[in-house]
Amino acid sequence: MFKLPALPRLPGLDAVVTEFDTVLRTLAAPATSGRAHPDAHIDEAELDEAEKRHAAGLMRVNHSGEICAQALYQGQALTARDPANRDALRQAAQEEVEHLAWTERRIEALGSHRSLLNPLWYAGSLAIGVTAGLVGDRWNLGFLAETERQVGAHLQAHLGTLPPQDAKSRAVVEQMYHDEMGHADLAVELGAAELPLPLKAVMGLSSKLMTSLSYRF
Ligand SMILES: [Fe+2]
Ligand SMILES: [Fe+2]
Repeated sequence: MFKLPALPRLPGLDAVVTEFDTVLRTLAAPATSGRAHPDAHIDEAELDEAEKRHAAGLMRVNHSGEICAQALYQGQALTARDPANRDALRQAAQEEVEHLAWTERRIEALGSHRSLLNPLWYAGSLAIGVTAGLVGDRWNLGFLAETERQVGAHLQAHLGTLPPQDAKSRAVVEQMYHDEMGHADLAVELGAAELPLPLKAVMGLSSKLMTSLSYRF
């Protein structure tokens, strides 16, 4: 028998208010981590001004990436159809909050500031997340898996260029990499579709734009 496709779930007013609260908290309030910061047991290394500036730039990029992750997960959870998928998305988002807290603290310790462009990245990523959720859960999860893989590749690249003696930043990036790969695996387990190559390429280009701007501003 012909079966109508499931309609996208649209959020109610109470959900919108709650989500707006999340936006404000993500952008304005300091994030906190339930887990110990991965670098808590490591001493601060001697870094010259150029090394400090470079490490801070990379941590600022990672922080902006986590702002994007918050918005993406929030948008996707708002519109995901399957409650089990929504719960998994919220659980992963909680780990992203911890990443926010870790990168925030590294940026401060390196004497720098968070990206001024974060509200822009948040708005763009929220719109992308909502759209991905509306397209359907398999594509939503596919988008998530690909995002996490691309973030993982960035983190690996950062490990290659961070000052070798900056063990604190390296410990944070290594744990984040481990978590992001877990998020990608989770999305695949939940039934993620493999995205078409051109879409992956567009995602790669937009993340390049974000990283080069957040490194500087
Ligand atoms: Fe993350
Ligand atoms: Fe992640």
